[in-house]
Amino acid sequence: MGNEQGRCSRGDNLKGIVLAGGSGSRLYPLTRSVSKQMLPVYDKPMIYYPLSVLMLGGIRDILIISTPRDLPRFEELLGDGNHFGVSLAYAEQQQPNGLAEAFIIGREFVGDDSVAMILGDNIFYGHGISQLCRQAAELRTGAAIFAYRVDDPGQYGVVEFEPQTQRALSITEKPTSPASDWAVTGLYFYDNDVLDIARTIEPSSRGELEITAINNAYLERDQLHVHQLGRGFAWLDTGTHDSLHEASSFVRTIEHRQGIKMACLEEIGLSNGWLAAEDVMNWVNQLDSSPYTDYLRRVASERA
Ligand code: G1P
Repeated sequence: MGNEQGRCSRGDNLKGIVLAGGSGSRLYPLTRSVSKQMLPVYDKPMIYYPLSVLMLGGIRDILIISTPRDLPRFEELLGDGNHFGVSLAYAEQQQPNGLAEAFIIGREFVGDDSVAMILGDNIFYGHGISQLCRQAAELRTGAAIFAYRVDDPGQYGVVEFEPQTQRALSITEKPTSPASDWAVTGLYFYDNDVLDIARTIEPSSRGELEITAINNAYLERDQLHVHQLGRGFAWLDTGTHDSLHEASSFVRTIEHRQGIKMACLEEIGLSNGWLAAEDVMNWVNQLDSSPYTDYLRRVASERA
């Protein structure tokens, strides 16, 4: 996510959720004993990337949801979030009952606030992501989601747009005949009503509480804002061995060329003013040397 700074104007009223569940069965045997969202994308565990997006959007209060098997590993990896300048909480999803279940599991955590959810395997890159998140976070009512043009829309939720106005008309989950090439990405902003909507939707034919059902509920209320992400953004897939490899290559290419790290969580905490350079230095001094920690040391000393 580069070096962008992010701070939404009502960050204190906006909670974040990273959903890192699922079995990752398409990546077998990689995922037989390790969560998909824990796998490396070049030099960091996958979950760093979506977490960085929420942080760039100014969100500091974040719930990580994962399977009973994997949740302890995420806690070991990320702790209470203090060294990133955020506060992390954890909750189990007992069964893969669908993305929308996150708002049932996270009901108490969200409380009376609005909520942004990101899927633990979604990687975004591009100038302006934090700006987009901040705009979405400022919505008083309704929902905001992001659509991205893809080659294989049938694998995703797909948006049908009204040709003249580009207004969203419908969203269909994994359609056999997609109405457009615009896939719904795994980053969603909702007002507090999402907690009640999630309780009313029925499981789909594949037995899951679909996020698409929630988005369609907002569409029916005429409260769904669909932002098309242009070609200047990258939204990367990590669902197959090839796409996982390509995502790693992408990160490696950008990092080598620019000499900066994508999704360096401590750096974002620092840029957002949530951490002081001294905090980062104290933290990095407890860690062994690696390209990541050496980078962090450099960033902290430049800002000291
Ligand atoms: C899920 C959503 C789908 C969305 C996609 C984005 O798909 O159901 O609407 O387009 O995430 O990553 P799944 O991960 O279940 O294949």
